[in-house]
Amino acid sequence: MEWIVIFGAGGHAQVIIDILELMGLYRIAGIYDDSPELVGKFIYGYPVLGLIGANSIIRKGIIGVGDNDRRASIAIKVGERMPDFEFISAIHPSAIVGRNVSIGPGVAVMAGSVINPNSVLQEHCVVNTMASVDHNCRLEPFSSIAPGAHLGGGVTIGTRSFIGMGATVIHNIHVGPDTVVGAGATVVSNLPSQVIAYGTPAKVTRSREVRETYL
Ligand SMILES: CC(C)(COP(=O)(O)OP(=O)(O)OC[C@H]1O[C@@H](n2cnc3c(N)ncnc32)[C@H](O)[C@@H]1OP(=O)(O)O)[C@@H](O)C(=O)NCCC(=O)NCCS
Repeated sequence: MEWIVIFGAGGHAQVIIDILELMGLYRIAGIYDDSPELVGKFIYGYPVLGLIGANSIIRKGIIGVGDNDRRASIAIKVGERMPDFEFISAIHPSAIVGRNVSIGPGVAVMAGSVINPNSVLQEHCVVNTMASVDHNCRLEPFSSIAPGAHLGGGVTIGTRSFIGMGATVIHNIHVGPDTVVGAGATVVSNLPSQVIAYGTPAKVTRSREVRETYL
């Protein structure tokens, strides 16, 4: 088994750790986090080895942070500090992954989710608990779909965009980068970049800044 490290010590990291333990492919050496008070302590049974951005002897791992913008900035930080760092994906054994699905580095696919054929999950995407991605979808880098969200066939979710809990996006919709779809929305028309939209049918309610938190 190969040694890996995890970036982030919050609830999302806990879910990733569960998946990695079930996968049985890697040994977790420890966690890096931004909270100085956690360094030296044990979280979920693993030592917090240092702050994110510290040099790691182990050059393989995954980012366990749910916020898309934050995950993207950690990936940049790690890449600048350790250009040879290799990101792994975490796929829960109960997830159903169809034929010809492409899964990029750093991707997390949570329990009970379904990814149908010919879909592409680009680097550091998250398909959360019991969400589904139908055939021929594309999740661009650092985008995520929350627990119980569903994408019809041929949907594109732009870079760092987020589809909220239980939302539905009908087939062939394009969601631009850095957009947030609220929980429970029904998206029936394309959405531009950097907006918030919710409701049934989903309507754009306002624009948003790239770094604005949404979780
Ligand atoms: C949409 C969202 C990002 C908030 O956007 P916002 O522009 O900051 O909206 P506000 O919180 O200021 O709320 C504005 C109004 O919209 C309503 N509203 C907020 N989210 C809504 C949603 N998803 N659906 C319907 N109405 C919503 C609020 O109740 C409020 O109504 P009011 O003016 O009558 O009081 C957020 O509510 C949301 O749905 N986030 C996703 C959460 C999620 O899926 N988490 C999963 C974690 S894994």
